[in-house]
Amino acid sequence: MAVDPLIELRDVNKHFGELHVLQDINLTVGRGEVVVVIGPSGSGKSTLCRAINRLETIESGRITIDGRPLPEEGKGLAQLRAEVGMVFQSFNLFAHKTVLENVSLAQLKVRKRRRDESDRRSRELLERVGLSAHADKYPAQLSGGQQQRVAIARALAMDPKALLFDEPTSALDPEMINEVLEVMQQLARDGMTMVVVTHEMGFARSAANRVVFMADGRIVEDRTPEDFFTSPSSDRAKDFLSKILKH
Ligand SMILES: Nc1ncnc2c1ncn2[C@@H]1O[C@H](COP(=O)(O)OP(=O)(O)OP(=O)(O)O)[C@@H](O)[C@H]1O
Ligand SMILES: [Mg+2]
Repeated sequence: MAVDPLIELRDVNKHFGELHVLQDINLTVGRGEVVVVIGPSGSGKSTLCRAINRLETIESGRITIDGRPLPEEGKGLAQLRAEVGMVFQSFNLFAHKTVLENVSLAQLKVRKRRRDESDRRSRELLERVGLSAHADKYPAQLSGGQQQRVAIARALAMDPKALLFDEPTSALDPEMINEVLEVMQQLARDGMTMVVVTHEMGFARSAANRVVFMADGRIVEDRTPEDFFTSPSSDRAKDFLSKILKH
């Protein structure tokens, strides 16, 4: 595949004290690609995502988005966080703001859109995630799956170049997982560039262009889902798959 790189990590290293949490990480995510990151707890998946968004600094190596190094601070950083949206396990919605206000807020503050323009865009996005009827409710009045879809709409409202998801469904009751995965599937089909940390292997199989398997701060495998699931080459991945596929 001819890759038009959007996110690139070159020889990235980071420690937390003694712990070498990211070890010589090299990863390229092409425009429109969906990369699923899996691996045991503590392997560095969240740290990797957070580093791409500069929620964590790195000690050596290089991270570029669309050919540009990550900004250090200030305005550039706010711009980066808008361009590379992040969706977390906990939805982090403002409890005292309505769904519509939650989706419009950063459009007003960061994108400097007018209120009517922001609200129009928010309503379009709420429609896209199946929540048109809930625009005037407060987060506490929604289910977890609905709140997570609001968080996705909020990230989309920045017109991001890429979206990072860190276990977006792992705090949800089973019956709500699919409604969130379906929204993500649709984004993938629409060509959104996505890095997704998840244990949802069905999603990895059906939506990912590549699966990246991490263990102990390293990328151990980086292959197509087909290759990864049918013939993992490392013992670490074989062991991991045998454990999770039993559940
Ligand atoms: N701010 C921090 N300070 C110190 N250690 C940290 C910090 N954040 C993470 N770690 C450690 O770094 C390692 C990697 O953490 P990370 O959260 O990236 O793992 P993960 O692969 O996302 O795990 P999980 O599947 O449990 O979410 C872990 O051992 C964790 O305890
Ligand atoms: Mg994590």
